[in-house]
Amino acid sequence: MYVLLWDNGRLPDTFTPTIPGISFVMSATDLSAMGATRARPSLTSHGSRGSMMQKQVGGLSLEQVKENLLGILADNTDYVVNNIIEPFCRPHEEYCRIQQLLLENLERGLDPVSHPTAPVKMYPTFVRDIPNGTEKGQMLALDFGSHHLRLELVTLDNGSCTVDSQNGFVPETLLTDGTGEQLFDYLAKFLHRFLKQRKLLNRSDPIPLGFTFAFPCVRLALNRAVLTHWTKNLHCDGVEGQEVVAMLEEAITRKGEMNVVVDAVVNDTVGTLMSGGLDDPTCAIGLILSKGVNACYMEQLDRVGTWTGDTGEPKQVVIDTEWEGFGADGCLEFFMTLYDKELDEHSKRPGRYIYEKMISAQNLGEIVRLVLKKLHDDDIMFQEHWTEEMDTRGRFYTKYISEVLSDEDIRFQKTRHVFEDLHLGHASEIECRVLHHVCQIVSTRAATLTALGLATLIDRVAKNEVGVAVDGALYRYHPTFKTMLEQKIPLFLKKDKMFRLVSAADGSGRGAALAAAVAERIKGNHCALSTDIPNTGDNAHTDTPNTGDNACTAEEGNKTPDASVVNQMSDAK
Ligand code: BGC
Repeated sequence: MYVLLWDNGRLPDTFTPTIPGISFVMSATDLSAMGATRARPSLTSHGSRGSMMQKQVGGLSLEQVKENLLGILADNTDYVVNNIIEPFCRPHEEYCRIQQLLLENLERGLDPVSHPTAPVKMYPTFVRDIPNGTEKGQMLALDFGSHHLRLELVTLDNGSCTVDSQNGFVPETLLTDGTGEQLFDYLAKFLHRFLKQRKLLNRSDPIPLGFTFAFPCVRLALNRAVLTHWTKNLHCDGVEGQEVVAMLEEAITRKGEMNVVVDAVVNDTVGTLMSGGLDDPTCAIGLILSKGVNACYMEQLDRVGTWTGDTGEPKQVVIDTEWEGFGADGCLEFFMTLYDKELDEHSKRPGRYIYEKMISAQNLGEIVRLVLKKLHDDDIMFQEHWTEEMDTRGRFYTKYISEVLSDEDIRFQKTRHVFEDLHLGHASEIECRVLHHVCQIVSTRAATLTALGLATLIDRVAKNEVGVAVDGALYRYHPTFKTMLEQKIPLFLKKDKMFRLVSAADGSGRGAALAAAVAERIKGNHCALSTDIPNTGDNAHTDTPNTGDNACTAEEGNKTPDASVVNQMSDAK
């Protein structure tokens, strides 16, 4: 057992015990599991930004990683430096340059003159505040972000939020080969089943619904949004350029028996911010780290040149940055490794979403696979055994990175399971150690890129204490991502700010309901949504698995937004 003493009562973010022959990073979570205590995630103050903190990889310095990798692959020193270390372990100055470029991109997106060609769109939402706990009422929340689907009946009562939820799954074929009508019919069918189970069909009073739609949209109103383009490899025909709430409402009408009215449509980052804000009033940023990555934040109205709505109180609006588009103008080219370039070349949208491609759960595993493949192709490692799986694009899942980095000692049990899953059994200790280091440097780069973006937003928010509501598989399951963010954000803050990462697990759905409730509060409607929905009793707080089957097909509708919207969208692709 290691005894740790910290002057502020908090554990360090990572700790490197010395096991003979291997340097191993343990996260604070690991340490907690060993019985050490960690204070409640308190607001982290702007930390030191010295050269000492530069070139860090997880809890290891660049020098330590070099030393370890070079020790393992001693006969190939130059190769390792040129192909692994230098491409990924970049100097702090390069990250600072990226931060400056991102800031310029945020400004471009907010300026009506440069907005049409800006890669980071900075869409103003119609969400003007976070919940203050006085919101009341019941509402449905439908959360759609790609394969996963979630329905909730949300009950808000003076700061408490009860959720009766059901998860579902959208079939891959529908997402990539289906039509928009088929997709929305599927959502309507899922909603119908949920309401039927709760005896909420054919009600005389409409039930309000908040819709979380996790794709880039131009907002026309709190409950009107036009999809600019699909992301996350979706290719469902007939939705791009369409107003998605109208498509959902029409599908609900086609299915029948449901008296539901859509009061709000929000991005998942906005839903996460609203949900985090209910628990922590300092929240002003929402972050999703998942298959896609994106962030939103509360901006002052006078800095949003593209805002054409009401300028009354509160003089602020949530901006959906859609920062995954950062780099589409080639400005990150200098930072891309040969692995990033190969991944990009084979992606569905080459040259686009460069920032997202270096961070998201859809891509990190593939970057690791490409590094291993290079080691194999160049006869450095894995000469003896290589498998079809290791040659298959996308087959090294990002969840493997979390498993590998969760290994706690040199038996590498989890790492060996990963190799077995890839049919690469009998991996040597050296192979395990190399994989561990590759996962670590790829993860660390992703966390550093995220941290510089968050620091940029924290600096922009008009508050000294800023809560960042976060959700997404990468954040939830990666053993050190959160810790690395906490460690690295201070390196990029330019103002004296305090920040806290607030976990908002599964918050994106109920956040849409909260957005509608907050809008009602601002209008002075006492936040009343619907108060006569029967108590859902047993299902409250529970998740029930989906048993769904495919939705039926219908003909495509004609829902064309007005010309100004089409113009706003034309350069977004
Ligand atoms: C989408 C964003 C979304 C993010 C996280 C991105 O690919 O474009 O709108 O917020 O994924 O789900």
